[in-house]
Amino acid sequence: MLSTGGPGPLVRTVGVEREFVSPAETVRAVGGVDFEADSGEFVCLFGHSGSGKTTMLNLLAGLDLPTSGRVVVAGHDLTQISAEGRIRLRRDEVGMVHQSHQLISEFTAAENVALPIEARGTNTVEALDEAERLLESVGLAGYGGRYPDELSGGQQQRVGIARALSGGRKILLADEPTGSLDSRNAGAIFDLLAVMSSKGVLVVVASHDPACRERASRSIEMLDGVVRDVAYRA
Ligand SMILES: Nc1ncnc2c1ncn2[C@@H]1O[C@H](COP(=O)(O)OP(=O)(O)OP(=O)(O)O)[C@@H](O)[C@H]1O
Ligand SMILES: [Mg+2]
Repeated sequence: MLSTGGPGPLVRTVGVEREFVSPAETVRAVGGVDFEADSGEFVCLFGHSGSGKTTMLNLLAGLDLPTSGRVVVAGHDLTQISAEGRIRLRRDEVGMVHQSHQLISEFTAAENVALPIEARGTNTVEALDEAERLLESVGLAGYGGRYPDELSGGQQQRVGIARALSGGRKILLADEPTGSLDSRNAGAIFDLLAVMSSKGVLVVVASHDPACRERASRSIEMLDGVVRDVAYRA
């Protein structure tokens, strides 16, 4: 994989832009964002609907490529590596969580978490062991044998977080992870994300929920694809 060489922040964008062009119009979803974040941070992206939050997360995950500018993740310039390289980077470095849990319904919680570990070549028994440890770390000790539909919405999101961090991934990107939860469960998920960041994970969350900003170490307000304001928590 092409590396930029030398240590740098875990995630960096330089003048990143993403335009969506259709015959009817050109939408500048992200319009020149410089962003850096490192291990141990909890960054909350907020802003009106359509301000570019999801587009930013997809660019950071290498699920989408910028129209111009650079996205550097764990030393790899995503615009310079192959599609396979970007898939590898997600397998090894970047976990994602969405509003709906996207767990596989035919697999137990532990099997869902073990899947990405096995994908990296670990045998099933060891992968399930690691999955149980991860489930414990998200407050779900003893729940490994349950199927997704036997878990509450908050518990399903916890399994999603455990899966996103499995295999030692140190970057967690979450898009409206509490969008389907009540405020008490939402607060508990943000508390968990804060704990994960305190253990060295870089957490970047797009969320409308003010509870995200209350827990985040940095809150970035986006407006029409650009950064409008940045606030750091003391
Ligand atoms: N695939 C696409 N094709 C065309 N336009 C798109 C595409 N994806 C996003 N957009 C546009 O880019 C802009 C930013 O969208 P984005 O989904 O990033 O916003 P958001 O901040 O996540 O909004 P929300 O809070 O509603 O989730 C919007 O104007 C949207 O319509
Ligand atoms: Mg969005």
